[in-house]
Amino acid sequence: MSNTESGIAQLRSMARESAAHAEAGTLPLADSIVEIASEHYYDEQRWKLEMDRVFRRIPLMLAATCELPNPGDYKSTTAVGLPIIISRTEDGSVRAFANICAHRGAVVMPEGCGNTHRFTCPYHAWSYNPEGELTGVFSAKDFGDLDKSKLGLRPLPVLERSGLIWVIPNPDAELDIANFLSGYDAVLDQFNFAGWHMFSQRRVDGPNWKIAYDGYLDLYHLPILHKDTFGSDFPHRAMYHSWGPHQRASSPDPSLVPLMQKSEEEWPDSSLLTGVWTIFPHVSIASFDGGGRGVMLSQLFPGETPQESYTIQNYMMEKPPSEEQEAAATEQFELLKYVVETEDYATGLLQQQALMTGARKTVMFGRNEGGGQNFHRWLDRILSTEDADLDALFTSDES
Ligand code: FES
Ligand SMILES: [Fe+2]
Repeated sequence: MSNTESGIAQLRSMARESAAHAEAGTLPLADSIVEIASEHYYDEQRWKLEMDRVFRRIPLMLAATCELPNPGDYKSTTAVGLPIIISRTEDGSVRAFANICAHRGAVVMPEGCGNTHRFTCPYHAWSYNPEGELTGVFSAKDFGDLDKSKLGLRPLPVLERSGLIWVIPNPDAELDIANFLSGYDAVLDQFNFAGWHMFSQRRVDGPNWKIAYDGYLDLYHLPILHKDTFGSDFPHRAMYHSWGPHQRASSPDPSLVPLMQKSEEEWPDSSLLTGVWTIFPHVSIASFDGGGRGVMLSQLFPGETPQESYTIQNYMMEKPPSEEQEAAATEQFELLKYVVETEDYATGLLQQQALMTGARKTVMFGRNEGGGQNFHRWLDRILSTEDADLDALFTSDES
C-alpha cells in the first residue's frame, strides 16, 4: 500500500471507530489514573535534561513548506538558542544550517523569511549560497589561505514531509528523522499542507512547555475553561490515536454516523481530519473555518527558564482568503489568541506558580486523559535513552 493509500485508510478506520463510539456513547479509556511528580514542571536539572535530550536531539517542526515554496526562499529562525537558516535550493530541495558565520561566529541572517541567492554576514561580508557553501570572502587577498570548501555553514539534519519541515537543532545529531515520524506523515499528508497559504503568525508567551503541551492534548477542559469562547456544550470526551510519540486527540463524532451509510469515497476530508493533531514534542494542529478552511498550527518552544515557554501561532489556510473572507479569518485568528493567551496560558501560569510552591507533590491524568499519560511516558523514555539507542525507540511504519 502506498503512503497515500495508507494515510486515507487510517483516517477512514479512525472515522469508523469514532462513529461507533458516538453511536454507542462509549469511549476507549486508559488502564488507570496516572500521577506525575509536580517537580517535573519546574525542577532545574530535569529541565536541562529535557533541553539536551529532547529539544537538542529530537527533530523540531520549524517551518511549513508554504513559508519557503520557491528556489532561493529561506527562513531564518531560532530554536533552543541556536540561530538556524532553512533554505530552498535550485533543485527544490530543502537544506538547514546553523546560522553562524565560519569567520568569527556572527549571526549571518536576521530572523525572517525572504528570497536571496546569497547569505551575507553583516560583520565582514563573508557570503554563502543557498547550499550553505562559502562563496565569498571580503578582501580575500589580505586574509590568508583558506580552504573555502571546508568553511560552509554547518548543515543540520532536515526533512521535508507532508508540507512541513523538521530540523534537528544540533549539527552533530544523527537521528533518522523519517524514522522518528513513525508513519505519522502518511496521515498528515492528507491535509495537503504543501499547497496551503500562511495567513498570519504571532508569538504568545506561556508557562513550562509541558504545562502548555498537556493543554493541547487535553479535550477534557474544553467546555469548562473555554465555556465563554467555545461554549459549554463543546465535546470533551477524547479518543487518542498514536504514531510513536505523535498523537491525535478527537471526540467521538455523531456527524460521522450518517456517513457510515455512504461509500467511503463520499466521506469529506474535513470530517476525517477533525480534532487536535500533535507532533511530539512541540506542535499542535487544529482545524477552524474562519474565512475558509484553515488550521492553527502552534509551535511551542521552551523559554529561558523551566517556568517559561513561548508559542508561535501560525494560521495556515487552504487558500488565500478573498477580500470578504479576510475579516473573518482575522477574527478567527484573534479569537484563538484570546483563547490561548487569556484562558489556557493565564491558567497555566498560575498553575505553574502554584506547583512551584511544592504544596502539592503530584498531579493526575485520568483514564480519560490517555493522551497526557502517553506524552509523559514517551518523554520519560526519551530522557532515559542514550544517544546510541535513540533511533531504535522509533519505528517507521511505511508499509
Ligand atoms: S564574522 Fe562573519 S564575516 Fe566576519
Ligand atoms: Fe485550551
